[in-house]
Amino acid sequence: MSKTLFIKTWGCQMNAYDSARMADVLAPLGYRPTDSADGADMVILNTCHIREKAAEKVFSELGRLRELKSERADQGQRVILAVAGCVAQAEGAEIMARAPYVDIVFGPQTYHQLPEMVDRVTRPHGGRVIRTDFPPDSKFDSLPADTAGQGVTAFLSVQEGCDKFCTFCVVPYTRGAEFSRPATSIVAEAQRLVAAGAREITLLGQNVNAYHGEAPDGTSWGLGRLIRMLADIPELARLRYTTSHPCDMDDDLIAAHATVPQLMPFLHLPVQSGSNRVLAAMNRKHDSDDYRRIVERIRAARPDLALSSDFIVGFPDEQERDFEDTLRLVDEIGFAQAYSFKYSPRPGTPAAGMIRNQIPEQVKIERLAALQDLINRQQLAYNRSFIGRTVPVLFDRRGKRQGQIMGRTPFMQSVYVHAPDRGLATIAEVTITGAHANSLSGTLAGTAAAMTLPLVPARAAAMAVEVAS
Ligand code: 5AD
Ligand code: SF4
Repeated sequence: MSKTLFIKTWGCQMNAYDSARMADVLAPLGYRPTDSADGADMVILNTCHIREKAAEKVFSELGRLRELKSERADQGQRVILAVAGCVAQAEGAEIMARAPYVDIVFGPQTYHQLPEMVDRVTRPHGGRVIRTDFPPDSKFDSLPADTAGQGVTAFLSVQEGCDKFCTFCVVPYTRGAEFSRPATSIVAEAQRLVAAGAREITLLGQNVNAYHGEAPDGTSWGLGRLIRMLADIPELARLRYTTSHPCDMDDDLIAAHATVPQLMPFLHLPVQSGSNRVLAAMNRKHDSDDYRRIVERIRAARPDLALSSDFIVGFPDEQERDFEDTLRLVDEIGFAQAYSFKYSPRPGTPAAGMIRNQIPEQVKIERLAALQDLINRQQLAYNRSFIGRTVPVLFDRRGKRQGQIMGRTPFMQSVYVHAPDRGLATIAEVTITGAHANSLSGTLAGTAAAMTLPLVPARAAAMAVEVAS
């Protein structure tokens, strides 16, 4: 019997990937993705714990869903309500206690068990289910081989978890210890995604460049070697990877940036701070000069590389001169884009315990504004340097305005072009005519015949993704 499934996804791309896989896991049970909670037979909130007040946002969403669930119950219909992701992992017991109308709570490492959880809660007197353990078997061994695909740009998890324990971060607690998938299963999944229409794959991991998966010959491969293997898949035009730690940029991966044409010239490499004092207190395991040297090496391999980063301002005990070190680093490196956040304590992390040294909110606000101003200026200057250039754009969605389609340059900029829908899912040369802080606009450089890739149907718009940053 056909039933409908709505998944609301917060946070990072790995959550978006997990949501797609949850839909794959539930497909054999007859669940079909839908794009609204209204009328859905099952609703999953796939949550993110990185941002401040993450749990409150989940509880307020749950409040709305509670009403929906009881209205449907009045009509004699059963809605299964589930909370997944990192908030579920970190605060599962609290969700079970505060929201008794939630049927299932499960963490990022247990969603392959969803069919059994659904079966349990739908049995007479089946009760509720909470699964927030880290099972010894990897979910990747039990996920279905079939995937509905994700459209022309797809995500693929290759590595999960983190052993770095930066003192501000919840990831090592919510996603667990570092784990790399075997290369053969990654290549097989990439082939299936390409068969389902993907032309770009972004390899995902909390520490993706720490990848050290089992190779076909029983040895271990790093990310550079895996990328070279994936680049052999015909029709896979673009490869990206995120998120990386500076200490794990090894020579082989840097060499891949010089030698693999499919590997796009864009790298998100979080530094968090430019101050060595703060970096040490964050337990980042690198200082600001290490970061400068790593960037120099990557730029030597790929001179046109566009760099992105994450920054935290107002980390406990961050002095004005520390913040100035951050501004100086940004000034020296020159970023194509970057995310910056005010530090906020995460329960259970070491930095949250540095109670006496917390920075006043007003200071954080001012530092964030100053840093974002500098980053925005760099981003705008970078984008403006593209005016008049012609770049290949992979079109993957419609623009906000009628008659517009949207895609990305190799350097990750969004580009809007007036062109017919048949340009979607193709790569075409675009001459850039306008530049803003967050996007470019342009015109097709050739005729429509220049669009080189065949059309692929877009995946049903089942996932509402709210990007945390
Ligand atoms: N406070 C502020 N920003 C944080 N991030 C992670 N934890 C915190 C926190 N407690 C930021 C980091 C990370 C990005 C994903 O989120 O910059 O790289
Ligand atoms: Fe968190 Fe990244 Fe540090 Fe790991 S390396 S603890 S995921 S910030």
